[in-house]
Amino acid sequence: MRNIYQRFALFTHIIQIPLHSKATALNMGNKIQHIGVFTSGGDAPGMNACIRAVVRSALNENVEISGIMNGYQGMIDGDFLSLGISDVGNIIQRGGTILKTSRCEEFKTPAGMQKALASLNKQGIDALVAIGGDGTFRGANEFISKFGFPVIGIPGTIDNDMYGTDFTIGYDTAINTVVDAVDKIRDTAEAHNRLFIIEVMGKDAGFIALRSGIAVGAEAVLIPETKTHVTELITYLKKRGESKNASSIIIVAEGDDAGGAMEIAAKVKEHGLDYDTRVSILGHMQRGGTPSCMDRVLASRLGVGSVTALMEGKTNQMIGINHRDISFTPFEKACKHHKSINRHLLNIIETLAG
Ligand code: F6P
Repeated sequence: MRNIYQRFALFTHIIQIPLHSKATALNMGNKIQHIGVFTSGGDAPGMNACIRAVVRSALNENVEISGIMNGYQGMIDGDFLSLGISDVGNIIQRGGTILKTSRCEEFKTPAGMQKALASLNKQGIDALVAIGGDGTFRGANEFISKFGFPVIGIPGTIDNDMYGTDFTIGYDTAINTVVDAVDKIRDTAEAHNRLFIIEVMGKDAGFIALRSGIAVGAEAVLIPETKTHVTELITYLKKRGESKNASSIIIVAEGDDAGGAMEIAAKVKEHGLDYDTRVSILGHMQRGGTPSCMDRVLASRLGVGSVTALMEGKTNQMIGINHRDISFTPFEKACKHHKSINRHLLNIIETLAG
Protein backbone atom coordinates (compact mmCIF):
# COMPACT_ATOMS: atom_id res chain seq x y z
CA MET A 1 0.00 0.00 0.00
CA ARG A 2 1.38 3.41 -0.96
CA ASN A 3 1.29 6.22 1.53
CA ILE A 4 0.04 9.72 0.94
CA TYR A 5 3.43 11.06 -0.13
CA GLN A 6 4.13 8.24 -2.52
CA ARG A 7 0.69 8.68 -4.08
CA PHE A 8 1.24 12.42 -4.19
CA ALA A 9 4.62 11.88 -5.80
CA LEU A 10 2.96 10.08 -8.73
CA PHE A 11 1.35 13.35 -9.72
CA THR A 12 4.27 15.57 -8.93
CA HIS A 13 7.14 14.12 -10.89
CA ILE A 14 7.61 17.54 -12.46
CA ILE A 15 7.85 19.25 -9.04
CA GLN A 16 10.09 16.35 -7.90
CA ILE A 17 9.07 16.11 -4.24
CA PRO A 18 11.31 13.46 -2.65
CA LEU A 19 9.49 10.57 -0.95
CA HIS A 20 10.87 11.53 2.46
CA SER A 21 9.94 15.23 2.38
CA LYS A 22 6.71 14.59 4.19
CA ALA A 23 6.26 17.97 5.81
CA THR A 24 6.41 19.63 2.38
CA ALA A 25 3.70 17.38 1.03
CA LEU A 26 1.51 17.98 4.06
CA ASN A 27 1.95 21.70 3.90
CA MET A 28 0.60 21.53 0.38
CA GLY A 29 -2.78 20.54 1.76
CA ASN A 30 -2.74 16.75 1.72
CA LYS A 31 -5.04 15.23 4.29
CA ILE A 32 -3.59 12.67 6.68
CA GLN A 33 -4.91 9.24 5.79
CA HIS A 34 -3.25 6.80 8.15
CA ILE A 35 -2.09 7.44 11.72
CA GLY A 36 0.23 5.15 13.69
CA VAL A 37 -0.08 5.21 17.49
CA PHE A 38 2.43 3.78 19.96
CA THR A 39 3.43 3.79 23.61
CA SER A 40 7.07 4.12 24.62
CA GLY A 41 9.25 4.28 27.75
CA GLY A 42 7.82 3.32 31.14
CA ASP A 43 4.15 2.36 31.01
CA ALA A 44 1.62 4.45 32.92
CA PRO A 45 -1.98 3.79 33.98
CA GLY A 46 -4.27 5.53 31.49
CA MET A 47 -2.20 4.68 28.40
CA ASN A 48 -4.94 2.28 27.26
CA ALA A 49 -7.60 4.95 27.72
CA CYS A 50 -5.45 7.20 25.57
CA ILE A 51 -4.96 4.57 22.82
CA ARG A 52 -8.74 4.09 22.77
CA ALA A 53 -9.31 7.82 22.36
CA VAL A 54 -6.73 8.16 19.56
CA VAL A 55 -8.12 5.16 17.67
CA ARG A 56 -11.75 6.15 17.93
CA SER A 57 -11.23 9.80 17.08
CA ALA A 58 -9.09 8.88 14.06
CA LEU A 59 -11.79 6.52 12.80
CA ASN A 60 -14.31 9.28 13.38
CA GLU A 61 -12.29 11.42 10.96
CA ASN A 62 -12.26 8.54 8.44
CA VAL A 63 -8.54 8.12 8.99
CA GLU A 64 -7.04 4.64 9.06
CA ILE A 65 -5.24 3.77 12.30
CA SER A 66 -2.55 1.24 13.13
CA GLY A 67 -1.11 0.36 16.52
CA ILE A 68 2.68 0.06 16.57
CA MET A 69 3.81 -2.66 18.98
CA ASN A 70 6.66 -2.21 21.52
CA GLY A 71 7.24 1.48 20.90
CA TYR A 72 10.07 2.48 18.55
CA GLN A 73 11.22 -1.16 18.39
CA GLY A 74 7.99 -2.16 16.64
CA MET A 75 8.41 0.73 14.24
CA ILE A 76 11.83 -0.61 13.29
CA ASP A 77 10.60 -4.21 13.06
CA GLY A 78 7.42 -3.32 11.15
CA ASP A 79 5.24 -4.75 13.91
CA PHE A 80 1.90 -3.10 13.16
CA LEU A 81 -1.67 -3.88 14.09
CA SER A 82 -4.62 -2.48 12.18
CA LEU A 83 -7.14 -1.20 14.73
CA GLY A 84 -10.92 -0.89 14.58
CA ILE A 85 -13.49 0.49 17.03
CA SER A 86 -14.02 -2.80 18.85
CA ASP A 87 -10.29 -3.52 19.19
CA VAL A 88 -10.10 -0.79 21.82
CA GLY A 89 -13.34 -1.70 23.61
CA ASN A 90 -13.15 -2.62 27.28
CA ILE A 91 -9.62 -1.28 27.78
CA ILE A 92 -10.33 2.16 29.29
CA GLN A 93 -10.16 0.65 32.79
CA ARG A 94 -7.01 -1.41 32.27
CA GLY A 95 -3.49 -0.54 33.44
CA GLY A 96 -0.40 -1.26 31.31
CA THR A 97 -0.62 -0.82 27.56
CA ILE A 98 -2.18 -3.16 25.00
CA LEU A 99 0.46 -1.97 22.51
CA LYS A 100 3.31 -2.93 24.88
CA THR A 101 6.26 -0.62 25.37
CA SER A 102 10.05 -0.59 25.39
CA ARG A 103 13.07 1.64 25.80
CA CYS A 104 14.67 1.27 22.36
CA GLU A 105 18.39 1.96 21.87
CA GLU A 106 18.38 1.11 18.15
CA PHE A 107 16.04 3.99 17.33
CA LYS A 108 18.72 6.40 18.59
CA THR A 109 20.97 5.39 15.68
CA PRO A 110 20.62 6.78 12.10
CA ALA A 111 20.28 3.20 10.78
CA GLY A 112 17.47 2.46 13.25
CA MET A 113 15.61 5.62 12.22
CA GLN A 114 15.99 4.75 8.53
CA LYS A 115 14.54 1.30 9.17
CA ALA A 116 11.62 2.83 11.08
CA LEU A 117 10.90 5.25 8.23
CA ALA A 118 10.98 2.41 5.68
CA SER A 119 8.52 0.35 7.78
CA LEU A 120 6.15 3.31 8.18
CA ASN A 121 6.24 4.01 4.44
CA LYS A 122 5.60 0.35 3.67
CA GLN A 123 2.58 0.35 5.98
CA GLY A 124 1.33 3.60 4.46
CA ILE A 125 1.42 5.44 7.79
CA ASP A 126 1.71 9.19 7.24
CA ALA A 127 1.52 10.60 10.79
CA LEU A 128 2.26 9.44 14.34
CA VAL A 129 0.86 9.84 17.84
CA ALA A 130 3.58 9.06 20.40
CA ILE A 131 2.50 8.39 23.99
CA GLY A 132 5.39 8.51 26.48
CA GLY A 133 7.85 10.69 28.35
CA ASP A 134 10.85 12.87 27.51
CA GLY A 135 12.89 10.02 25.97
CA THR A 136 10.00 9.33 23.60
CA PHE A 137 9.74 12.96 22.56
CA ARG A 138 13.49 13.33 22.12
CA GLY A 139 13.35 10.44 19.66
CA ALA A 140 10.34 11.98 17.90
CA ASN A 141 12.04 15.37 17.66
CA GLU A 142 15.09 13.79 16.03
CA PHE A 143 12.91 11.77 13.64
CA ILE A 144 11.00 14.88 12.59
CA SER A 145 14.15 16.92 12.01
CA LYS A 146 15.59 14.13 9.84
CA PHE A 147 12.52 13.21 7.80
CA GLY A 148 9.85 15.85 8.45
CA PHE A 149 7.43 13.13 9.52
CA PRO A 150 4.36 14.58 11.35
CA VAL A 151 4.23 13.60 15.04
CA ILE A 152 2.15 14.75 18.01
CA GLY A 153 3.26 13.60 21.46
CA ILE A 154 1.07 12.81 24.46
CA PRO A 155 2.72 12.92 27.91
CA GLY A 156 2.30 9.51 29.55
CA THR A 157 4.52 8.86 32.57
CA ILE A 158 3.84 8.43 36.27
CA ASP A 159 6.67 10.87 37.05
CA ASN A 160 4.73 14.01 35.99
CA ASP A 161 8.06 15.55 35.03
CA MET A 162 7.19 16.88 31.56
CA TYR A 163 7.59 20.60 31.01
CA GLY A 164 4.55 22.07 29.23
CA THR A 165 1.79 20.19 31.01
CA ASP A 166 0.39 20.42 34.52
CA PHE A 167 -0.23 16.68 34.57
CA THR A 168 0.94 13.60 32.71
CA ILE A 169 -1.16 10.48 32.19
CA GLY A 170 -0.57 8.00 35.03
CA TYR A 171 0.59 10.44 37.70
CA ASP A 172 -2.75 10.72 39.49
CA THR A 173 -3.16 6.93 39.67
CA ALA A 174 0.42 6.49 40.88
CA ILE A 175 0.10 9.00 43.73
CA ASN A 176 -3.18 7.41 44.80
CA THR A 177 -1.43 4.02 44.84
CA VAL A 178 1.32 5.52 47.02
CA VAL A 179 -1.19 7.10 49.38
CA ASP A 180 -3.07 3.84 49.74
CA ALA A 181 0.15 1.91 50.51
CA VAL A 182 1.55 4.49 52.94
CA ASP A 183 -1.73 4.74 54.86
CA LYS A 184 -1.39 1.02 55.53
CA ILE A 185 2.24 1.39 56.53
CA ARG A 186 1.28 4.22 58.90
CA ASP A 187 -1.04 1.84 60.79
CA THR A 188 1.78 -0.56 61.59
CA ALA A 189 4.31 2.26 62.12
CA GLU A 190 2.02 3.85 64.68
CA ALA A 191 1.39 0.53 66.44
CA HIS A 192 5.17 0.09 67.00
CA ASN A 193 6.23 3.75 67.27
CA ARG A 194 8.56 3.16 64.34
CA LEU A 195 10.25 5.31 61.76
CA PHE A 196 9.52 4.21 58.19
CA ILE A 197 11.61 5.42 55.29
CA ILE A 198 9.54 4.85 52.18
CA GLU A 199 11.01 5.08 48.70
CA VAL A 200 8.84 6.12 45.76
CA MET A 201 9.68 6.37 42.05
CA GLY A 202 11.27 9.45 40.53
CA LYS A 203 14.89 9.16 39.52
CA ASP A 204 15.11 12.79 38.43
CA ALA A 205 11.93 14.30 39.82
CA GLY A 206 10.13 14.55 43.12
CA PHE A 207 6.56 15.11 41.98
CA ILE A 208 5.31 11.72 43.20
CA ALA A 209 7.07 12.13 46.56
CA LEU A 210 5.90 15.68 47.10
CA ARG A 211 2.19 15.35 46.45
CA SER A 212 1.79 11.93 48.07
CA GLY A 213 3.87 13.18 51.01
CA ILE A 214 1.35 15.92 51.73
CA ALA A 215 -1.54 13.50 51.38
CA VAL A 216 -0.17 10.98 53.88
CA GLY A 217 0.95 13.62 56.39
CA ALA A 218 4.62 12.69 55.99
CA GLU A 219 7.04 14.10 58.55
CA ALA A 220 9.55 14.83 55.77
CA VAL A 221 9.87 14.48 52.01
CA LEU A 222 13.26 14.17 50.27
CA ILE A 223 13.40 14.99 46.57
CA PRO A 224 16.10 15.44 43.89
CA GLU A 225 15.16 19.08 43.26
CA THR A 226 16.32 20.24 46.71
CA LYS A 227 19.45 19.58 48.73
CA THR A 228 18.85 17.05 51.49
CA HIS A 229 20.48 18.01 54.81
CA VAL A 230 20.82 14.68 56.55
CA THR A 231 22.06 16.13 59.87
CA GLU A 232 19.02 18.43 60.13
CA LEU A 233 16.78 15.49 59.37
CA ILE A 234 18.45 13.45 62.10
CA THR A 235 18.11 16.22 64.69
CA TYR A 236 14.41 16.40 63.92
CA LEU A 237 13.97 12.62 64.03
CA LYS A 238 15.88 12.42 67.34
CA LYS A 239 13.28 14.64 68.96
CA ARG A 240 10.44 12.54 67.61
CA GLY A 241 12.20 9.29 68.54
CA GLU A 242 12.77 10.53 72.11
CA SER A 243 9.07 11.11 72.66
CA LYS A 244 8.68 7.28 72.37
CA ASN A 245 5.13 7.83 71.37
CA ALA A 246 5.24 8.71 67.74
CA SER A 247 5.61 7.06 64.39
CA SER A 248 7.37 8.92 61.57
CA ILE A 249 7.05 8.60 57.83
CA ILE A 250 9.79 9.89 55.54
CA ILE A 251 9.01 9.77 51.82
CA VAL A 252 12.12 9.71 49.66
CA ALA A 253 12.23 9.90 45.87
CA GLU A 254 14.54 7.21 44.48
CA GLY A 255 16.80 9.85 42.89
CA ASP A 256 17.30 12.06 45.95
CA ASP A 257 20.81 13.54 46.22
CA ALA A 258 21.35 11.85 49.62
CA GLY A 259 20.38 8.45 48.16
CA GLY A 260 17.35 6.19 48.17
CA ALA A 261 15.60 4.76 51.23
CA MET A 262 18.34 2.21 52.00
CA GLU A 263 21.06 4.88 51.99
CA ILE A 264 19.02 7.26 54.15
CA ALA A 265 18.33 4.44 56.62
CA ALA A 266 22.06 3.61 56.74
CA LYS A 267 22.92 7.27 57.43
CA VAL A 268 20.30 7.45 60.17
CA LYS A 269 21.81 4.32 61.76
CA GLU A 270 25.36 5.71 61.45
CA HIS A 271 24.29 8.71 63.53
CA GLY A 272 23.16 6.36 66.30
CA LEU A 273 19.52 7.40 66.16
CA ASP A 274 17.56 5.52 68.76
CA TYR A 275 14.47 5.01 66.66
CA ASP A 276 13.25 1.60 65.54
CA THR A 277 13.55 2.02 61.77
CA ARG A 278 12.20 0.11 58.77
CA VAL A 279 12.54 0.64 55.02
CA SER A 280 9.87 0.09 52.42
CA ILE A 281 10.46 0.44 48.66
CA LEU A 282 7.18 0.69 46.80
CA GLY A 283 8.73 0.03 43.37
CA HIS A 284 6.79 -0.97 40.28
CA MET A 285 3.44 -1.35 42.02
CA GLN A 286 3.27 2.43 41.40
CA ARG A 287 3.15 1.84 37.65
CA GLY A 288 0.30 -0.68 37.58
CA GLY A 289 -3.38 -0.83 38.42
CA THR A 290 -6.68 0.59 37.34
CA PRO A 291 -6.32 4.17 36.12
CA SER A 292 -8.06 6.80 38.25
CA CYS A 293 -11.01 8.79 36.90
CA MET A 294 -8.72 11.80 36.50
CA ASP A 295 -6.22 9.84 34.40
CA ARG A 296 -8.94 8.35 32.19
CA VAL A 297 -10.43 11.77 31.50
CA LEU A 298 -7.01 13.34 30.88
CA ALA A 299 -6.05 10.47 28.56
CA SER A 300 -9.30 10.79 26.62
CA ARG A 301 -8.95 14.55 26.22
CA LEU A 302 -5.33 14.39 25.09
CA GLY A 303 -6.02 11.44 22.77
CA VAL A 304 -8.85 13.23 20.98
CA GLY A 305 -6.84 16.47 20.93
CA SER A 306 -3.82 14.77 19.34
CA VAL A 307 -5.84 13.58 16.34
CA THR A 308 -7.51 16.97 15.92
CA ALA A 309 -4.06 18.58 16.03
CA LEU A 310 -2.68 16.31 13.30
CA MET A 311 -5.73 16.95 11.13
CA GLU A 312 -5.14 20.69 11.55
CA GLY A 313 -1.56 20.24 10.30
CA LYS A 314 0.18 20.57 13.69
CA THR A 315 3.35 18.56 14.19
CA ASN A 316 6.44 18.39 16.40
CA GLN A 317 4.47 19.35 19.50
CA MET A 318 3.49 17.80 22.77
CA ILE A 319 -0.16 18.24 23.66
CA GLY A 320 -0.72 18.95 27.34
CA ILE A 321 -3.06 20.43 29.89
CA ASN A 322 -2.43 23.85 31.40
CA HIS A 323 -4.86 25.47 33.81
CA ARG A 324 -7.50 22.97 32.69
CA ASP A 325 -7.15 23.80 28.98
CA ILE A 326 -5.44 21.94 26.15
CA SER A 327 -2.06 23.44 25.22
CA PHE A 328 0.82 22.67 22.85
CA THR A 329 4.57 22.81 23.50
CA PRO A 330 7.23 22.16 20.84
CA PHE A 331 9.10 18.90 21.55
CA GLU A 332 12.39 20.70 21.78
CA LYS A 333 11.12 23.01 24.49
CA ALA A 334 9.31 20.19 26.34
CA CYS A 335 12.53 18.13 26.44
CA LYS A 336 15.00 20.95 27.13
CA HIS A 337 13.20 22.64 30.00
CA HIS A 338 12.93 21.17 33.43
CA LYS A 339 9.52 21.37 35.04
CA SER A 340 10.00 22.96 38.42
CA ILE A 341 8.38 21.76 41.61
CA ASN A 342 5.98 23.94 43.52
CA ARG A 343 8.00 25.19 46.53
CA HIS A 344 4.77 26.08 48.26
CA LEU A 345 3.98 22.35 48.52
CA LEU A 346 7.33 21.74 50.24
CA ASN A 347 6.59 24.49 52.73
CA ILE A 348 3.25 22.88 53.46
CA ILE A 349 5.00 19.67 54.49
CA GLU A 350 7.31 21.55 56.87
CA THR A 351 4.47 23.59 58.33
CA LEU A 352 2.22 20.64 58.94
CA ALA A 353 4.79 18.12 60.26
CA GLY A 354 4.23 17.62 63.98
O1 F6P B 1 8.30 5.58 34.23
C1 F6P B 1 9.27 6.36 34.87
C2 F6P B 1 9.89 5.55 35.92
O2 F6P B 1 8.85 5.05 36.65
C3 F6P B 1 10.90 6.20 36.88
O3 F6P B 1 10.34 6.89 37.94
C4 F6P B 1 11.69 4.99 37.32
O4 F6P B 1 12.95 5.38 37.77
C5 F6P B 1 11.79 4.23 36.05
O5 F6P B 1 10.62 4.49 35.34
C6 F6P B 1 11.96 2.74 36.20
O6 F6P B 1 12.04 2.19 34.92
P1 F6P B 1 12.22 0.65 34.59
O7 F6P B 1 10.88 0.01 34.79
O8 F6P B 1 12.63 0.62 33.16
O9 F6P B 1 13.21 0.12 35.54
